[in-house]
Amino acid sequence: MKIIIGNDHAATDLKWEILEYVKELGHEVENYGTDTKDSCNYPDYGEKVARAVAEGKADCGILICGTGVGISIAANKVKGIRAAVCSDTATARLVKQHNNANILAFGARIVGGELAKDMVKAYLEAEFMGGRHAERIQMIADIENRQ
Ligand code: RB5
Repeated sequence: MKIIIGNDHAATDLKWEILEYVKELGHEVENYGTDTKDSCNYPDYGEKVARAVAEGKADCGILICGTGVGISIAANKVKGIRAAVCSDTATARLVKQHNNANILAFGARIVGGELAKDMVKAYLEAEFMGGRHAERIQMIADIENRQ
């Protein structure tokens, strides 16, 4: 799979760890995040990754900020994006199986490296289950289309 990763200054170290791990899992990964710890604005990175995923430039995205919340809120403003903030492995699996989340988000100040890697693996290996879940995702798209 092709994956785009993005992060703000709070998540630079974890970004590198996750980027290497995603490569180890055999995926191609492109880095759209900041590479320094200088203060920056997470909406810029959330939007950048979300637009690329929405345009089909990657199969999915990974976004990391301090909590995972701000960057995912920003990403979710882009049409077609379902960015899910996770802090446990079961949820990371379920957001793909049930919600077909196209971006996994988490917080570098919330989860440690090992848990983050477990979540990334669970998310990337899971498959969308379709059926009733597809109908619900369509309902979400309908909300977006009514804006
Ligand atoms: C940056 O200090 C922090 O606010 C950001 O990384 C994130 O946690 C926002 O949701």
